[in-house]
Amino acid sequence: MPNKFFTKINYSASNEDSESERKALQLTPQDVVLCITGSGARPLDLLVDAPQKIISIDFNPSQNHLLALKIAAYRHLDYQAFAEFIGLYPSNSRLVTYQKLQTSLPPKAQDFWNGHPRLISGGILYCGTWERLLRGMLKMAKPRKKTLQQLINAPSLEAQKDIWTKKWDNWLWRGYLKLISNQFLWKHIVREPGAKLIPKTFDVYAYMKQRLDHMAMNFDLKTNHYAQLIFQGGYQPNCALPHHLRPENYTLIQNKLENIEVITNTLSSYLDTASQPITAFSLSDFASYAPLDVYQATWQKIIQAAAPQARFCERHYLVKRNPEKQFPAIQRNQALEETLTQTDETYIYSFCAGHIAKN
Ligand SMILES: C[S@@+](CC[C@H](N)C(=O)[O-])C[C@H]1O[C@@H](n2cnc3c(N)ncnc32)[C@H](O)[C@@H]1O
Repeated sequence: MPNKFFTKINYSASNEDSESERKALQLTPQDVVLCITGSGARPLDLLVDAPQKIISIDFNPSQNHLLALKIAAYRHLDYQAFAEFIGLYPSNSRLVTYQKLQTSLPPKAQDFWNGHPRLISGGILYCGTWERLLRGMLKMAKPRKKTLQQLINAPSLEAQKDIWTKKWDNWLWRGYLKLISNQFLWKHIVREPGAKLIPKTFDVYAYMKQRLDHMAMNFDLKTNHYAQLIFQGGYQPNCALPHHLRPENYTLIQNKLENIEVITNTLSSYLDTASQPITAFSLSDFASYAPLDVYQATWQKIIQAAAPQARFCERHYLVKRNPEKQFPAIQRNQALEETLTQTDETYIYSFCAGHIAKN
């Protein structure tokens, strides 16, 4: 893993709609879940279903340090102080709060955060490369501020659709989408390591256009948390927040934090040593960073480590795979996948979900 990309925090807010994982995995208190950490949002969201254990894994140590700091904040703060500390609410005293939290962090996480005070003072919720990129891109929308305000404050879904089709979706928007869909930009300028795995024949522009049209036609942008990241740079007061950020779930999550174990490793290496059968897999879009051989080797180990009838939920972004062709034990549920692809409130993913047929 020599790429520096995988040593910084790339994702810090919620870039996924965990409701999809909840529907696919149907977790119960008996479940042992293997879950990619990413921003930490999904493992924390899944705690609302109180599984026996969530093994939260990421090969990027910084993503796990982020989760460790979020966990420390839940442990020691009430909701108001938590929301201020992470950056959901404004605050000028995050570094003072950090002094109280730091001693409860694992030593490596403490070293990491001691070296990144600016990420803390700015609010860890929006400190990721992706969240900062979205905020940067939003600056390009300045000339269209008035139309954007109309769009995100539309009084009804019908009015929103009308503004999208008649005012927003013009040559400027399409030009912008073409620009951000350009593979050269991601490969050579942003240097996103996943960019080289996108098949040359995959039309990124057509895909993004279709998915964002789907967003505008089906989701209320005023309350949708992913739309707020894209069009407002962060969650506004009217946002339907991800589960783990909702005040009504705060105590529930605080009481279940012991159920999360954080592991820095690749999925594949961890699965070689997993000591208990895993009943559910929340795999995010690990295909985005896995060449085909790594992807297949990882799936082989997932099947080996799976408990009988284990459920899985994998997201596909721009790299679409069909693991069932190689491994017949993978039973994809097409009806479920289609529902998730249509209803997921982060709209840019399709799904590979189902169960593993194993006795
Ligand atoms: C797949 S990315 C997508 C981010 C996601 N949308 C989110 O909001 O968290 C999530 C994380 O997976 C990690 N990752 C990717 N492939 C992995 C693997 N094979 N083993 C462990 N972690 C992996 C990356 O470091 C990244 O932090």
